[in-house]
Amino acid sequence: MARPRVLSGIQPTADSFHLGNFLGAVRQWIGMQETHDAFYFIADLHAITVHPAPAELRRRTRVSAAQLFAAGLDPERSTLFVQSQIREHSELAWVLICNTGMGEAARMTQFKDKSAKFGESSAGVGLFTYPILQAADILMYQADQVPVGADQKQHLELTRDLAQRFNSRYGPTFTVPSPYIPKEVEKIADLQDPLAKMSKSSSSPQGILEVLEEPRVLTKKIMRAVTDTGTEVVADPENKPGVTNLLRIQSALSGTPVAELEARYVGQGYGALKKDVAEVVVDAFAPIRERTEKLLSDEAELDRLLAVGARRAAAVARETMEAVRDRVGFLPVPSRPESDV
Ligand code: TRP
Repeated sequence: MARPRVLSGIQPTADSFHLGNFLGAVRQWIGMQETHDAFYFIADLHAITVHPAPAELRRRTRVSAAQLFAAGLDPERSTLFVQSQIREHSELAWVLICNTGMGEAARMTQFKDKSAKFGESSAGVGLFTYPILQAADILMYQADQVPVGADQKQHLELTRDLAQRFNSRYGPTFTVPSPYIPKEVEKIADLQDPLAKMSKSSSSPQGILEVLEEPRVLTKKIMRAVTDTGTEVVADPENKPGVTNLLRIQSALSGTPVAELEARYVGQGYGALKKDVAEVVVDAFAPIRERTEKLLSDEAELDRLLAVGARRAAAVARETMEAVRDRVGFLPVPSRPESDV
C-alpha cells in the first residue's frame, strides 16, 4: 500500500525556532518522513497577514527552511517548499473562500483571539480568511493526514467541511484529510512562567529556548529558570510546574521517561537537574545551529534545494488546480508566451 500523504506548514515568524516548535513540529515532521509521503512548507503567505518587513520575511523564510534541513529533513525523501512559490495556493484559496459561509469563518477562535488584539474593525481581512488559505494548502496536495496541535484543530475541521462541500457541489475532487494526533508530546512551558506555554508571542526572551542560540545563552537561561519551593526533583504539574517542565524537557530530548529521571535525582537538588537539562538542550541544538549557519552561508545552494521542493510541489498543485478550474467552470488557461512555474 502507498504511504499516506502528510502535509504541514509552519510560519516564518521568528529568526529561530524555539524548543516548543522543535518538539511540536520540527521533530515530528522529520520522524514522519520515514513512514509517510511528506509535504512540508514555509507558510509565508500566512505570515503577511501581520505585515512583517519584506527583508525580515525573506530572511526568516530562508532561516526556517535552513533549520529544517539542518535538523534532518531530507530533501530526497520529503518535499519542503515555500508556499508563495506555488501560485496555486492563492488561486485555490479564492475558490474556497467563495464556498465558505461568513458565519462559518467568523466562528474560528484563532481569528477572534488575533483580531481582538487589533480591535475588531481594524483587523485585516487576511486574518479572517487565514483558515481558508490553510484549507487550500491542505486540499491542494490531497493530504491524508495533517499533524495538528490543539490550536489548529478547528482549522482542520473547517478544511474537512470545505472539502466535503466542494466534492458534493462540484463532484469528487478533494481527499478529506484526517487529523494526525502525534504521539503524546508534553506541552513545553515558558522557563520564567511555567504555567504558560513556551511561545514566541507570549513568552519573554528569558523564557524561550531558541534552536539557534549560543550554547552559553541556552545554559544561562536554563540555570535561571524559575523553579518551585521545596528541594525534591519530582514531576507535579500543580505544585511544581517549573521542575515538571524541566523534567519534561530532559525527558523529551533524551528519551528517558520522567519516572526514571525522578529516581536519578533522589537526594540531589534543582541545580543538578538544571545542569543536565542544559547539557541535553545544548547537545540537541548545537549541531543544528552549526549546520544552519553553513546552509545560510550559501544562499544559492539553499535556494536550489528549495527549488527542488517547489518543482515537486508544483506538479501536484497544477494537477489539482486543473481539476478545480474545470469543475467550477473556468475556461482552460491558454499557454503563455513565457512559460512560468
Ligand atoms: N496555521 C498553521 C500554524 O500557525 C500553519 C499552517 C498554514 C498550516 N497552513 C497549514 C499547518 C496547513 C498545517 C497545514 O501553525
